[in-house]
Amino acid sequence: MTKPIFILNGPNLNLLGQREPEIYGRETLADVEARCAAIAGDRGVGVVLRQTNHEGQLIDWIHEARHEACGIVINPAAFTHTSVAVLDALNAYEGPVIEVHISNVHKREAFRHHSYVSARAEGVIAGLGIEGYESATRRILTLIGA
Ligand code: DQA
Repeated sequence: MTKPIFILNGPNLNLLGQREPEIYGRETLADVEARCAAIAGDRGVGVVLRQTNHEGQLIDWIHEARHEACGIVINPAAFTHTSVAVLDALNAYEGPVIEVHISNVHKREAFRHHSYVSARAEGVIAGLGIEGYESATRRILTLIGA
């Protein structure tokens, strides 16, 4: 049985749908989970979507993924731009990693232009709204041959 895809989300994304909807849209993480579960489910693969506001928790889930996930879709949110620790955790993971940003970070403030995580990710998606999670899920399925 194929292990699930972990869809991991960093700080403030619990407010997706409510915070800055002009940037992040009106859909929620529950919508993301439903869309990605449908896509992966068609190939017999499950998804586990989680969100945390705490860096250490995100790192612990990446460690868990080493044994429990066939791939990782990650939106590290603000930790993208600050966290060598999240990068190090991902470097200890052997499966495929796709980095997602709902907004186009390159069109925004300069501090959002650099990502520590991109050095590890097989692919980076930015600016597609929550469709980016769907594309990332499809890409993981391709990379694992599901
Ligand atoms: C984000 C972009 C980050 O710069 C920001 O800190 C977020 C969300 C995105 O999905 O567009 O919280 O990762």
